Amino acid sequence: MASDKIVILVTGASSGIGLESVVALARESQDFDILLGSRSTEKGKKMLEDICHSHASSLKGTISVLQIDITDQKSILDAKEKVETKFGKLDVLINNAGIAVTRQTDTLTNLRETFETNVFGQAVVTEAFESLLKKSSNPRLIYISSGQGSITNRLDPTHKAYKTRGDYYRMSKTALNMLAACHKFNFAEWGCKVCAFNPGFCVTNLTGEAGRAMRIQHGARDPRDAADALVKVVTGKRDADIAKSGMVDVDGGMLPW
Ligand SMILES: NC(=O)c1ccc[n+]([C@@H]2O[C@H](COP(=O)([O-])OP(=O)(O)OC[C@H]3O[C@@H](n4cnc5c(N)ncnc54)[C@H](OP(=O)(O)O)[C@@H]3O)[C@@H](O)[C@H]2O)c1
Repeated sequence: MASDKIVILVTGASSGIGLESVVALARESQDFDILLGSRSTEKGKKMLEDICHSHASSLKGTISVLQIDITDQKSILDAKEKVETKFGKLDVLINNAGIAVTRQTDTLTNLRETFETNVFGQAVVTEAFESLLKKSSNPRLIYISSGQGSITNRLDPTHKAYKTRGDYYRMSKTALNMLAACHKFNFAEWGCKVCAFNPGFCVTNLTGEAGRAMRIQHGARDPRDAADALVKVVTGKRDADIAKSGMVDVDGGMLPW
């Protein structure tokens, strides 16, 4: 018997945008059962303790930790089995986990590492959870992409990030956008709403401690902005945008592929 509540899984929710999204979703509705996906169970539990401590009075939905490392097939399948046993379905999959390789490596190592998480992992997680999404009456699949993945903006000399490199990260997010576009097409027949979402430039741990300081210095936004915008995607307030082509943007409207 499937859960009566809306079951939402956020991968990579032990930090940054994923973590803030779990909080924002739990504050939104008592009908939400939120799975805080974390590759480290300990870190996930610690984050959940912190959330309960800091937001106790405003949490409506329930949160539980789900171990899921998106580069580990066994971890993904175990996670799927746990969700199936406990809830019998999944309503919303937020494929958020992602990395930006900042240490010096050769091209092939960097590309392999980046794509392993940002593209291959997302594809395999979706494949594993597809059958549970099919059991939802209103399934949604959200890929956390990036404006850095826009080919159109890459070649626009007036764009604010024109001089930003990050070639391999950019390539991975462009590939992720294609994955989202393919799933948008493939999953339409069973009513799954699919989108790629751009959370904007946020102060998170994506590029490590030094990157965090750089982000603050360059006026990056609070990841809570991205989380609030994601809640709107989850609750259907951006459905008109989801129907369009391009990335659903944190500030409203769309970003070009
Ligand atoms: N911050 C920005 O400006 C920005 C802009 C555009 C898009 N994004 C995207 O937003 C998403 C979230 O990033 P963030 O900025 O919030 O960075 P973050 O603070 O570094 O969070 C990334 C999360 O992904 C998790 N993760 C990494 N590899 C994983 C794996 N193999 N399995 C499971 N989880 C894994 C991390 O887990 P640990 O805690 O264990 O490391 C962490 O919870 C990413 O997809 C990123 O590309 C970010």
